[in-house]
Amino acid sequence: MKKENQSEFGLIGLGTMGSNLLQNIADHGYNCSGYDNNYKKVDALNQLDRGNIHGFANIKDFVMSLNVPRVVMMSVPAGKVVDIVIEELVGVMEKGDIIIDGGNSHFTETERRYKDLEEKGFLFLGMGISGGAEGARKGPSMMPGGDKKAYDTVATLLEKIAAHVNGEPTVAYMGARSAGHFVKMVHNGIEYALMQLISETYEIMKEGFQMNDNEMHAVYEKWNEGRLQSYLIEITRDIFAYKKPGEKLLLLNDIKDEAKATGTGKWTSQAAMDLGLPVPIIDISVAMRDLSKYKDLRVKASTMYPGSQDIKYGGNADKYIAKMEAAYYFGMMSAYAQGMHLLYHANEEYKYGLNMDLIAKIWRGGCIIRSEFLEDIFAAYKKDSKLKHLFLDNSIHDNLIMSLDGIRAVVSDASKHGVAVPAFSAALSYFDNFRSAEMPANLIMAQRDYFGSHTYELTGKEGTFHTEWEDANN
Ligand code: 6PG
Repeated sequence: MKKENQSEFGLIGLGTMGSNLLQNIADHGYNCSGYDNNYKKVDALNQLDRGNIHGFANIKDFVMSLNVPRVVMMSVPAGKVVDIVIEELVGVMEKGDIIIDGGNSHFTETERRYKDLEEKGFLFLGMGISGGAEGARKGPSMMPGGDKKAYDTVATLLEKIAAHVNGEPTVAYMGARSAGHFVKMVHNGIEYALMQLISETYEIMKEGFQMNDNEMHAVYEKWNEGRLQSYLIEITRDIFAYKKPGEKLLLLNDIKDEAKATGTGKWTSQAAMDLGLPVPIIDISVAMRDLSKYKDLRVKASTMYPGSQDIKYGGNADKYIAKMEAAYYFGMMSAYAQGMHLLYHANEEYKYGLNMDLIAKIWRGGCIIRSEFLEDIFAAYKKDSKLKHLFLDNSIHDNLIMSLDGIRAVVSDASKHGVAVPAFSAALSYFDNFRSAEMPANLIMAQRDYFGSHTYELTGKEGTFHTEWEDANN
């Protein structure tokens, strides 16, 4: 029932994300309510003095300020807090009301919560939101999954507050139950891979070519104007221009080289391994963040293993930048392809009802991995919605072939000079195995059978076989 002056949307958790989302919603003419158990945050919200945003520090008053069916979105840290808030909400909301988890929850938790809430008569959406604080304010990319009826109720509002690409909103119903959070998790896995690849280009330029900050800034600036155009390259360009206040030096150079993580990249690797689906570029990106944390060991080892004397790359840096551009293009294609492959299989396994083209479409704007290249991915899935792997698309095929010399040069030169490029190497090895009709896995099967009688299968012959390998007579 719609009452005069009642709010059409409620949001719990008035941190920067929550407050920005409310302002975005209010900008589109909706009446909305915000709740936080921290009075200061509620005060800050009310002090915005926006006629159509109402802050509450009492959850009952907050819920009562909403139109029926009530729509409440949580913008709280993933984990236990989500369960605590849901329990509170269930106590004050009514059957038929809608609860949205807008955090980065693990998809298995969303699965559990969806079932629990369904049994209790509530409609639940697990919705990944990407774009950070700025995205929340100006237009994020949103990946909702769960109750379709709930989605239909909030679709118009979400479409209005989302980013838009070619006039189309970067939000769409992803699929059943935990589909939204699964898609967001893979988004973050790809994000980790792209960030690792970019950091490796930085390493080559800085260590290999001893380029200065301005020169590196110019490279990222140029890349962002071409086919590598993307949010992550764009912010990298800006980071290479950000000087410490009142100084000529970059802030970047004072930042500790120990990468933190909240876990979504690791979850992507774990989920992929559970499905038996390879995403090595994501795995290695998680591993390298972890390695970076062992600073004390790295410092000690750096004195024991000084590395190649020949770390400096010779030759023309400008020419080499073109090779690196191609290598990044290749690595980027691999990162998206591996992520999409994971989504394809997760969809089969978990029966989400995902549409691959729709995922590519809503990632084209608002989110952290938005890029020019997503247009190509979108086009590939639009052409063939059942495409099993992006590398099998003709236009992606041509782009991979064109970039192959670049990535081969970057990986081989880096190994010669002792520069670590684990994500580039992973991208290339994945490709070289992917394009192999035969892999050396036959030897692994023989070894397993040798020491563990695990049996093997034969090419062109039905059945499983075992050999007493010790009895070899030749
Ligand atoms: C986004 C980001 C967002 C968050 C990441 C950071 O899409 O807006 O991915 O979700 O910034 O969780 O992840 P790490 O802390 O693990 O780097």
